[in-house]
Amino acid sequence: MAAAQAEAGGAHSVMAGAAGTAMGDLGAAGSAMGDFGAAGPLMDGAGAAVVAEEPPPPPPLPGLRLVQQGAEAHVYRGLSSGGRPWPSSRPKRYGTGAGGAAERRRMAQEARSLLRCRRAGIPAPVVYFVDYVTNSIYLEDIVDSITVQDHIYSVQKSGNDTDGLHKLGEKMGELLARMHDEDIIHGDLTTANLLLRPPMEKLDLVLIDFGLSFISGLPEDKGVDLYVLEKAFISTHPDTETMFKALLKSYAAASKKSGPVIKKLDEVRLRGRKRSMIG
Ligand SMILES: Nc1ncnc2c1ncn2[C@@H]1O[C@H](COP(=O)(O)OP(=O)(O)OP(=O)(O)O)[C@@H](O)[C@H]1O
Ligand SMILES: [Mg+2]
Repeated sequence: MAAAQAEAGGAHSVMAGAAGTAMGDLGAAGSAMGDFGAAGPLMDGAGAAVVAEEPPPPPPLPGLRLVQQGAEAHVYRGLSSGGRPWPSSRPKRYGTGAGGAAERRRMAQEARSLLRCRRAGIPAPVVYFVDYVTNSIYLEDIVDSITVQDHIYSVQKSGNDTDGLHKLGEKMGELLARMHDEDIIHGDLTTANLLLRPPMEKLDLVLIDFGLSFISGLPEDKGVDLYVLEKAFISTHPDTETMFKALLKSYAAASKKSGPVIKKLDEVRLRGRKRSMIG
């Protein structure tokens, strides 16, 4: 039903926000959300809530379904009916609800960096709303996407197409080069924070999760960004050294300022190794 509504022009939204914000403020959030509330109830995509162990926090708007509980935020999915000119969107609510200055900053930073990416033509979700009452942002839902992390797992499980992973590494390198050339530091680069839009063969990447991002032109910051990704690669995908090498090679070729960044990456690696030797 949700899919049918989406096809019929209904609004499907992704939202991300604070883990467990007190929802006593919902009334205010509702009015802050203006049209969105008026657009009719948000419809559940596929039924029951996903999280089993702890009861999930109430959604920032009625009818949203919790689809992902991350370290920083809860991500919901919902579909607004009523034929509004409102494309698919994903709400994300930040923070704990206990005052939340840090969460608010992260949310604002996420929105800012997403906008900066989009202005530069770098693929990232559209930002629809920023709601300071519930520390929530409403983002374009990259429909039927999967994370690069899941894609790598499934390719590795099927035991073939390592050539495809090599190409994906190259695409990732190009994308990160474009992002860094805009002086956007992601701050939390992992394979779970990169989505692949269908059809998968097109390797159509979308960057997400900019809550720890910041703006910097310093090669050191860019080098550390790549180092964080390298660490994530090593721990999440042990057999992907050649893929990561392909990523760095295409990054170096695509970025106008890659020389000092790669140099810094080498330095940061060395520091990391020394630290782990010292213990
Ligand atoms: N716009 C979007 N479209 C489709 N899926 C999304 C979107 N935003 C987030 N997701 C899904 O929700 C997951 C969590 O989102 P996100 O990374 O933004 O939140 P987070 O709380 O910071 O998560 P984590 O701490 O796990 O990194 C993503 O890995 C992805 O699977
Ligand atoms: Mg994430």
